[in-house]
Amino acid sequence: MSGARVRTAVLISGRGSNLKSLIDACAASDYPAEIVLVISNVEIAGGLQFARDAGIPTRVIPHKPYPTREAFDAEIDRALREADVALVCEAGFMRIHSAWFAERWAGRILNIHPSLLPKFPGIRVHEQVLAAGETESGATVHYLTADLDSGPIIAQARVPVLPGDTPETLAARVLEVEHKLYPEAVRMVAERNT
Ligand code: GRF
Repeated sequence: MSGARVRTAVLISGRGSNLKSLIDACAASDYPAEIVLVISNVEIAGGLQFARDAGIPTRVIPHKPYPTREAFDAEIDRALREADVALVCEAGFMRIHSAWFAERWAGRILNIHPSLLPKFPGIRVHEQVLAAGETESGATVHYLTADLDSGPIIAQARVPVLPGDTPETLAARVLEVEHKLYPEAVRMVAERNT
C-alpha cells in the first residue's frame, strides 16, 4: 500500500449508524480509506452529528429545490469533485440517482442494502422478508448502478430470521452485521485502489 488513503464521501439521509461504523473504521491508522465529506439531502439527518463530532466536513444538499433528478445529482457530483473524492459510499441515502450519475461514478460508488440481494430490493425490506417466510436474511454491499439495488455484489453477511421476529427485531439484527460488513467491504475496495 502506498500510504495514501482513498478519499471517500458518505451520502446519508437519516440516522447514520453505518456512517458511524465507517468513521470508526477510518480511525485505525492502517485503514485504507478516509472520509473527507459527508453529504445529506436531509438537513435534520441525525448522522450529520457523527460527522461533525469527527471533524469531517458536511454538506446539506436538499433535493426539493432541484427540478429534476439530474439537476440534483449534478450538484452532488459537483460537491464530490470539489472535495476530490475517489470513492462514494451510500449509507441510508434515500434518493434514487439518475442514470447519468450512476454511470459517471460507476465502479467508484457503493451502497449497502439490508437484505441478501438479489432478494428483496427496494423498501420495506424486512416486512417483505417476514411475509415471504424466509429463514435467513442479511445485508449486501454492492456497486451502485442505474438499476436500483442491482449492481455487482461486493460482500454479504447473513443472519437468521427467528420465530416471533418483527420488522424491528429483524432490522436490528441485520443492522448489527451491516456495521461490520460495510467497513470490511470498503477496505476491500479501497485496497484495490491504493
Ligand atoms: C440501513 O439498514 C441500510 O442498509 C439501508 O438504510 C439503513 C440506514 O441506516 N440502506 P443508518 O442510517 O446507516 O443507520
